[in-house]
Amino acid sequence: MAASLRQDGEQSGHFVADRVETSRLHLRAFTPADLDDLHLITRDPEVMRHIGDGHPLTRAETERNLTKIICAFQRRGFGRWALVRKETGALAGYCGLSLGSEEVGVELAYLLAKSEWGKGLATEAASATLRYGFGRLGLGAIVALTRPENVRSRRVMERLKMKYVGDGNYYGYSCVWYSVSRDEWRPDGSLYRVTR
Ligand SMILES: CC(C)(COP(=O)(O)OP(=O)(O)OC[C@H]1O[C@@H](n2cnc3c(N)ncnc32)[C@H](O)[C@@H]1OP(=O)(O)O)[C@@H](O)C(=O)NCCC(=O)NCCS
Repeated sequence: MAASLRQDGEQSGHFVADRVETSRLHLRAFTPADLDDLHLITRDPEVMRHIGDGHPLTRAETERNLTKIICAFQRRGFGRWALVRKETGALAGYCGLSLGSEEVGVELAYLLAKSEWGKGLATEAASATLRYGFGRLGLGAIVALTRPENVRSRRVMERLKMKYVGDGNYYGYSCVWYSVSRDEWRPDGSLYRVTR
């Protein structure tokens, strides 16, 4: 499915990422010009507490991550979108799908600037991402992993009606595992528009 998306983009000679519009957000591909705005988010220890080894990122580390995000998106035809507030044009964070290990499969990922927590934006972006993954990419299931103590992230998974599957050790950390299949999932009727 990623291959067919890549071919769609290649028909016009170069890869063109899908964009998604929700009520309050544009989900668009990242570019290198997002570095400073992304680093404003990733340098915050509270945002990074449950990611990797939990340290806030330097500008150089953020740049490496941004390059990986951009390359993965171009290679697979899907990935993590930049979340841009429609009202202000500000970068609010990211949300999208990443390809985990063979055991994990396609994984939902999200991260918001601290100033954007508590507004329902992660759930809004993640819901559109699931809709895209099932509807546009034809995925059979999407998983989400987080540290057991990352209560805010677990609440997002629960609001999305993802099911708790169990605990395990993934990427070297103990995690809780949630999952939803295409058959179980229902879109919520909120604004969702895919463009190129
Ligand atoms: C995980 C994370 C994205 C969750 O963000 P969040 O703001 O708590 O989640 P949502 O965007 O879904 O917002 C839900 C909250 O907004 C409130 N809210 C306000 N307006 C709302 C609206 N219009 N619609 C829905 N919820 C709304 C909800 O009541 C809920 O509040 P609560 O936290 O008091 O229960 C955020 O904490 C984060 O970026 N953490 C750091 C990165 C991270 O850990 N990522 C996950 C790695 S696995």
